[in-house]
Amino acid sequence: MRVGLVGWRGMVGSVLRERMQEEGDFEGLEVTYFTTSQVGEEGPVPGTELHDAHDLERLARHDVVITCQGGDYTEAVYRPLRETGWDGYWIDAASTLRLDPDAVVVLDPVNAEVIDAALERGVRTLVGGNCTVSLLLMAVAPLLRRGWVEWISTMTYQAASGAGAAAMRELAEQIRRLGAGFEAPLSAADASPLDLDAVTAKLQRGGLPCDELGAPLAGNLLPWIDRAMPGGQTREEWKAQVECHRILDLERPVPIDGVCVRVGTMRCHAQALTIKLHEAVELEEIEAVLGSAHPWAEVVPNTREATLERLHPAAVTGTLQVPVGRLRTMLQGSEYLAAYTVGDQLLWGAAEPLRRALAILRRRAGAGGSAASPAAELAPSGSAAP
Ligand SMILES: NC(=O)c1ccc[n+]([C@@H]2O[C@H](COP(=O)([O-])OP(=O)(O)OC[C@H]3O[C@@H](n4cnc5c(N)ncnc54)[C@H](OP(=O)(O)O)[C@@H]3O)[C@@H](O)[C@H]2O)c1
Repeated sequence: MRVGLVGWRGMVGSVLRERMQEEGDFEGLEVTYFTTSQVGEEGPVPGTELHDAHDLERLARHDVVITCQGGDYTEAVYRPLRETGWDGYWIDAASTLRLDPDAVVVLDPVNAEVIDAALERGVRTLVGGNCTVSLLLMAVAPLLRRGWVEWISTMTYQAASGAGAAAMRELAEQIRRLGAGFEAPLSAADASPLDLDAVTAKLQRGGLPCDELGAPLAGNLLPWIDRAMPGGQTREEWKAQVECHRILDLERPVPIDGVCVRVGTMRCHAQALTIKLHEAVELEEIEAVLGSAHPWAEVVPNTREATLERLHPAAVTGTLQVPVGRLRTMLQGSEYLAAYTVGDQLLWGAAEPLRRALAILRRRAGAGGSAASPAAELAPSGSAAP
């Protein structure tokens, strides 16, 4: 199978290559590396050359094009490439084509049958879902599938790497400067805690680079992600309901809304959920349903010890586990469920569904493209560990 890889050096592309290497996915593939900025330079594999990612004729030589380059690239290249008559598979991390009727959004642990049905229909465009939405569904999709949910409010805590490689570098630089600022107050025996606070505020109000993030993120949080939408939502917030329905192909609309917040973590998105059920369900039953959803589901007991051990970015980063915890009935009533979930947005929220989409296509190609190799049967893999 000939595969063209675009966007391989960005945040998502780097994790995708790492995971493909870990799982041995490159074996048997003929891979061409494309670039938008480094044409002619050496690719990530010694001896490979980088080709122009806008060269339609070269892209069209591939059975599969995987792009983690971003929405502008997809806007510029996808239609013209299709118009050349190319009917290969396009696998994409960007949001551009997620609502396209000719595309399917891939998250096979929760929508394998939707993917299979789409491939049987001849769909050849497979798109990864929004990172926060994918992680939300990895955590609570069984409740939606069972029709138990009246609505969900999700308040998110999203890492800097969700905004790409440059944002991550900027956060690291902000942290470095804050760290340097703390040197003097931490070394002075008589320093007051207020000195640390003063250093932080001074640097945040003018001493940190903010070109990418728009404001200081180190020691801070920013309640705005992506552009404004009508009605006061940001686009990140708007995606929650729209994409959940698209991924699960839900018949009954379920309102899903909240506030999306960028926090000064490097990797992993967390979400505090309020889930309104149509009627009360025993907590034990909810835990059993969530914990058995797929091989990476994990219910964390609602204790301090378990929460601090397993339910935060530092514990989860670099792994495929999607723990959900802090589960309890709320004071508002027995149909109100509180939950908190965290997952690595660069894995299930970005690279992993793309990697597995390619695996699904390879299995189908191996089985002559028939339904004999459905996504639903793809063996769970996933040893991604820190
Ligand atoms: N980050 C996430 O958590 C996440 C999650 C889900 C979906 N997505 C989507 O996936 C797509 C790619 O996102 P991303 O976060 O991977 O973007 P990114 O890190 O900004 O990378 C995108 C491209 O930027 C170029 N680039 C420029 N300077 C770079 C640098 N210093 N280091 C690395 N690359 C650099 C590279 O293209 P050239 O090599 O051609 O110059 C790279 O392929 C977007 O559509 C995004 O919305 C991202």
